[in-house]
Amino acid sequence: MNKKRKNILVIGSGGREHAIVWKVKKSPLAGEVFCLPGNSGISRDASPAGIPLDFERVKSFTEEKDIDLIIVGPEAPLVEGFADFFKESRVMVFGPVKDGAMLEGSKVYAKDFMKKNGIPTAGYEVFDNESDAQDYLSSKKEDVVIKADGLCGGKGVIIPETPRKAREAVRVLMKEKKFGEAGSKIIIEDKLQGEEASVLVMISGEKYVYLSPSQDHKPVFDGDNGPNTGGMGAYAPTSAISSSVMEKIDRKITKPVIDGLKERGIDYRGVLYLGLMIHSEEPGVLEFNVRLGDPEAQAVLGLMESDFLEAVLDLMENRKPDIKWKDGYVVDVVLASGGYPGSYRKGMEISMGDIDEDIMLFHSGTRERDGVLYTDGGRVLNVAAAGKDIERAREKVYGAIEKINFEGMHYRTDIGLKEVMRK
Ligand code: AMP
Ligand code: GLY
Repeated sequence: MNKKRKNILVIGSGGREHAIVWKVKKSPLAGEVFCLPGNSGISRDASPAGIPLDFERVKSFTEEKDIDLIIVGPEAPLVEGFADFFKESRVMVFGPVKDGAMLEGSKVYAKDFMKKNGIPTAGYEVFDNESDAQDYLSSKKEDVVIKADGLCGGKGVIIPETPRKAREAVRVLMKEKKFGEAGSKIIIEDKLQGEEASVLVMISGEKYVYLSPSQDHKPVFDGDNGPNTGGMGAYAPTSAISSSVMEKIDRKITKPVIDGLKERGIDYRGVLYLGLMIHSEEPGVLEFNVRLGDPEAQAVLGLMESDFLEAVLDLMENRKPDIKWKDGYVVDVVLASGGYPGSYRKGMEISMGDIDEDIMLFHSGTRERDGVLYTDGGRVLNVAAAGKDIERAREKVYGAIEKINFEGMHYRTDIGLKEVMRK
């Protein structure tokens, strides 16, 4: 490999991007690291680019700062063609081109891709007018999940508790257009039972490597109660993915995905996130995302022993990376604002006692003013720790959280508990 230090730009502003910057900075291959836009935690570790996310402006910035690699955290720029824009330039973009990003950008596209390539997923129907969708619901006896086709910032999936709520969800998406055009097409799919887990795959064309399997905790309250959020915490690895399940994921999901991308002429370079439901040791795909998960990235990058930047560069230069993992577990807990995932207030002062050196603190939504830290989002901070077993990692994380406070702060106390129970 060309061992010249690389200048890097990380796009995004959440806990995931903070974890990416934190990990990249540890690499001897890293030169200057910039963030766009970053947040008050990220900008302690990376220099803010100070420009809007305008493709032309980013291009000029990469020339000015001699950027070699852009790592894209969130999906939206990818779906808008960010990687395509840089295709002919000398800057490498870790994140797929638009045609690949559509696996997340359109749920209908993703379902059709799965069907065509024989990838196990829930049965579904697509609707582009409300009355057909309502007729279908009237005829359907089983539980369903309703999904807007387009990107809705993680809010476009509704799991109705009753048939009446299902009809209401369809009306809100299609008639009231709560998410605008994203809901002009919807999917009604069968509700799957089982245990959810996330498997992240780093892909470069036909080469790919798995990251440690992890488990997110989406509902806001302990015991998976309350509405879904962007994710309240994660741990890695997870035994929800046994080696036999992993073998099935590889054979029934990843390989057909790689073949399907090839058949469509898509040169996919980036992460593919497999959101999975495991039932009786059989994996099914709930969703694809075209990026690292948040908060999965915080747990997975925290657990990675080897150099993440080197792995990215290997993939970009067509070599299969060799990734090494620490023994034990990493647990990441999200501290959220009062009211999240509903409406919440910003600007609460955050107090923080002495946090041990071995605790990883990743900022999601914070703002610093005159040396004081304030809340600035629904998900505010991530506290993560490694431990030789899951119990130890949990003890360390929850011990550190006792030293942090802000008005309205809430978090789940059971992150990783399923793993404890399984053992
Ligand atoms: P998605 O954005 O498609 O992953 O959906 C968000 C969440 O909704 C998932 O993490 C699951 O918890 C849930 N979900 C989505 N599709 C289904 C399904 N077919 N059956 C059961 N739960 C689902
Ligand atoms: N943790 C779920 C996601 O990143 O989509």
